Amino acid sequence: MFRVAIIGCGGIAQVHAAVLNNLPETELIACADIRPERAGAMAEKYGCRAYASMDALLDAETPDAVHLCTPHYLHAPMAKAAADRGIAVFSEKPPVISREQWALLEDAAAKVPFGVCFQNRYNPNVEEAKRLIREGVYGRLLGGRAFVTWKREIPYYRDSGWRGAWATEGGGVLINQSIHTLDLLVQLFGAPDRAETHMVNHHLKGAIEVEDTVEAYLILGGCPVLFYATTAYTTDAPVMIELHLEKAVLRLESDALEIRTGDGTERRTFEVEAALGKGYWGTGHPACIADFYASVAEKRPFRNNLASVKDTADLMLTMYEQGRAGL
Ligand SMILES: NC(=O)c1ccc[n+]([C@@H]2O[C@H](COP(=O)([O-])OP(=O)(O)OC[C@H]3O[C@@H](n4cnc5c(N)ncnc54)[C@H](O)[C@@H]3O)[C@@H](O)[C@H]2O)c1
Repeated sequence: MFRVAIIGCGGIAQVHAAVLNNLPETELIACADIRPERAGAMAEKYGCRAYASMDALLDAETPDAVHLCTPHYLHAPMAKAAADRGIAVFSEKPPVISREQWALLEDAAAKVPFGVCFQNRYNPNVEEAKRLIREGVYGRLLGGRAFVTWKREIPYYRDSGWRGAWATEGGGVLINQSIHTLDLLVQLFGAPDRAETHMVNHHLKGAIEVEDTVEAYLILGGCPVLFYATTAYTTDAPVMIELHLEKAVLRLESDALEIRTGDGTERRTFEVEAALGKGYWGTGHPACIADFYASVAEKRPFRNNLASVKDTADLMLTMYEQGRAGL
């Protein structure tokens, strides 16, 4: 049994707590938040102990692992602090907000099991698309495009205390809402060769420092990939990823996979559990978290280990270096 603590008891932490509570291999023993009412509510719901900071928790408890559900800028330093005490780390995305932070994660991951919550890698339609590409069923990949068009308004930023600022969120729609899609593109196409990125703040000028929209021309695994993400839309539309292969076009949208060939269109749907949190967070957290603990128990590399997120993190930071100047 893995004894686990959650650091940061806000929105996504509720999903982590529910998953840890359901998994037979894990026990949620403690949680921490600088807002005592949040840690208190989680502790009451799951019968664990509440603390006002990660340090206070780690001084009093000896968890096997911590889940970092804190604001972006805290992931890498908290991972290092936990790893220094020999505690495994499962971190929410993004892994880092700067190149300087990467060294902290390398240090942490050298000491303890470390994983990042890119849960969409576990989506059945993504795994099926990867299989079709790997087995060459429809020939070689030629190119792709991806759209993330969501809605975020001023209260989303104002009420959090950390979103919308370079120092604490590290960026906007790219590092937060669409990093999952960028990561899936890297998983599907392969390593980044080149990026040309533009960023703009269309609808929240003066309200947030960071971009609400990013567009990029990427070369991934030798293929051109067009990437567009915005939080200036009027609703949270399903994310769309399209893969152009020699003999088919594959389209991933919500939980489905559409395969368009000269013979027509086949739509494959997959059984997925109901989302534990907001629909646009997807359904992958249970599979991703369960696999993290299985990998630790079996002493095998975790699919979302540090090495596996390096290309995505590096590409994201490159895109900020290119696009931030335009804001
Ligand atoms: N994987 C996903 O699909 C997904 C979805 C949503 C959020 N996230 C990620 O989860 C993280 C948290 O996002 P959220 O939406 O839950 O944010 P949130 O603001 O709702 O929660 C963050 C919590 O961390 C607490 N906190 C801040 N500083 C702290 C500190 N020093 N010590 C302890 N607690 C502290 C805050 O009080 C807050 O309760 C972010 O990195 C975000 O990108 C991932």
